[in-house]
Amino acid sequence: MSLFASVEMAPRDPILGVTEQYLADPRPNKVNLGVGVYSDDKGRLPELEAVQQVEQALLRQHPLYHYLPIDGLPAYTAATRELLFGADSPLLECGRVITAQTLGGSGALRVGADLLKVVLGDKAVVAISDPSWGNHYALFRAAGFTLLDYRYYDAATHGLDFPGMLEDLGRLAPGSVVLLHACCHNPTGVDLKPEQWTQVAALMKERALLPFVDMAYQGFHRGISEDAMAIRFLVDAGVENLLVANSYSKNFSLYGERVGALSFVGRDHNESERVRSKVKQIIRATYSSPPTHGASLVAGVLASDELRALWKKELAQMCARIQSMRARLIDRLAALGAPDFSFINHQTGMFSYSGLGKAQVERLRQDNAIYAVSSGRICIAALTSSNLEHVAQSLAALFRQK
Ligand code: LMR
Repeated sequence: MSLFASVEMAPRDPILGVTEQYLADPRPNKVNLGVGVYSDDKGRLPELEAVQQVEQALLRQHPLYHYLPIDGLPAYTAATRELLFGADSPLLECGRVITAQTLGGSGALRVGADLLKVVLGDKAVVAISDPSWGNHYALFRAAGFTLLDYRYYDAATHGLDFPGMLEDLGRLAPGSVVLLHACCHNPTGVDLKPEQWTQVAALMKERALLPFVDMAYQGFHRGISEDAMAIRFLVDAGVENLLVANSYSKNFSLYGERVGALSFVGRDHNESERVRSKVKQIIRATYSSPPTHGASLVAGVLASDELRALWKKELAQMCARIQSMRARLIDRLAALGAPDFSFINHQTGMFSYSGLGKAQVERLRQDNAIYAVSSGRICIAALTSSNLEHVAQSLAALFRQK
């Protein structure tokens, strides 16, 4: 009898499992609108010019691949702190922010969750927006947290249920962790306005809640510094502790390099350094230390004014293409007599929370080889001039069948 005889087959991952199914599909007209990956209009992953320039320079220098420090490449973590908090932030000056390089945004969330579990013990509770990115639940559950929902999306208006959100957050016990999406909310694309962030930040402070900000799409809405406003509002509200998980997968098109970071704001420098020592312990016991290449690319771009400007320009071009695909999809659907889809124009980031149900998503897969997440999330950033018509026709046919 095998030791593993009782192991049951786990379900596919709700997002990456869609890619597995897509890859196994032999149909030539297949389209993957599941995973959040930006492609150019030819359906290719873009290689950013700013990144390539650093890559070439690195090749010429022929770097040696020593172990990095446990908490990562210092130039990378310093540049990340500035990008998130602003180079002129007083928090940086007094050493209240520590940053550790992590394996993507997921790695940052998991190291952060493990840290919080050590600190909070049995009281580790996290409130997550309803709905949220599927892996948020999995990561915090795996770290031993109790999971709670707070109201967020209002399906009737395709907008934010802000009163519901405030009410639910206001009921949380002090010390509860609140997971907040900084921008380009995944999956809904519905974000808080600046005045709403001010209110949420004030509530966090007043109720002594612990914000954990997830920022995987910085630069995909209003711009690099504008998209980090949630962090600034929380800091301005006087929140004493704060965690931020950020990722460069999307905004540097470096998905497989797993470049992310966890930042922690402490009450003072001493507290932050003690927390850094715990973060390092967790990383060492999990994957020892992070990889060199992706972080060197990001650090190289951010260290040069010229390359940083080029990167921002290339990022703005990605955003413009997504926006134009939103408009083109809405127009084609209207021309084909489908229900009004104009709400997707107001959604931010890569996704559209289309309102499609699980059965409709399944029908799209079976009948049209179009892959989406079963929640109805579709990746607008994967639409191209070549697949748009197939997607629009298939969606329109779906509504005719209803
Ligand atoms: C997504 O939401 O599709 C991306 O963040 C990729 C992932 O890891 O789920």
